[in-house]
Amino acid sequence: MRKRAGEKEKEAGGFVAAVILAAGKGSRMGGDVPKQFAEAGGRTVLSYTLEKFEKHPGVEAIIVVCARGNAGRVREICAKHGISKLRAVVFGGETRRDSSFAGVRKAAELAGGEDGIVLIHDSARPMVTEKIISENIKMAADSGACVTAARAIDTTVTSRDGKVIDGVIPRETVWSVQTPQSFRLSLIMKAHAEYERRLAAGETAEQVTDDGGLIRMLGLPVAICPSDNDNFKLTVPGDIDRLRSALAVKFDRERPEENGGQHNA
Ligand code: CTP
Ligand code: MG
Repeated sequence: MRKRAGEKEKEAGGFVAAVILAAGKGSRMGGDVPKQFAEAGGRTVLSYTLEKFEKHPGVEAIIVVCARGNAGRVREICAKHGISKLRAVVFGGETRRDSSFAGVRKAAELAGGEDGIVLIHDSARPMVTEKIISENIKMAADSGACVTAARAIDTTVTSRDGKVIDGVIPRETVWSVQTPQSFRLSLIMKAHAEYERRLAAGETAEQVTDDGGLIRMLGLPVAICPSDNDNFKLTVPGDIDRLRSALAVKFDRERPEENGGQHNA
């Protein structure tokens, strides 16, 4: 019998949870509220991100990580946009890694000791696609760890003094790391525990800036799920306008009859 979209991914990894990181302050973006609560096209950024995981048939549970004081706001957004897969709202920490660990711990608890997959995603990356989510689930089930990444567009150079170029990195070897970053739950739990152990022992040599970095810290491979710059992260003020334009193009594509049959892309 033919399987519905998503059933295959579900079978591949058992329990599949999405951890949505929304505990950041958005200091580079500025504004009255952290960027995940900013508005574009009449809705909050977070609502678009949540909807992508709500609609994906391979995702079973959603966990939102937010700052203390924003749980009510998160629950309101979920209720308003019909996010029925919301299973928990947990509090994040000072760093992105702290927030990520809080979400992953909750995912492991919800999995109840079962094998499972966790997708960790930035709330500030609302243009993630169904295809990227599907591929993350599959790659995490197959290889244990994957990060979404886009090939570098610009030539990348190095400069130690910040004044003169002292090297060029071949562009075909450079990737920009994005999210989702997805893992077998047992593996990412082990990586966080080892990071904390090293931190307590004063051993952390390298700076780990993303979840994939924790797996590399263990000396294990991390697969790349190829993406592009449409899956951008809202970071600086101009990115809100970029999101508005991206949403307008998408709306025109999905509802051409409301746009006089014209495609605006
Ligand atoms: N994040 C988080 N907890 C933190 C820091 C970041 O959950 N302590 C989340 C953010 O909410 C964001 C994602 O991680 O969705 C990516 O981080 P980033 O773009 O750096 O967001 P902020 O840290 O909020 O922004 P900034 O660095 O400009 O302050
Ligand atoms: Mg940050």
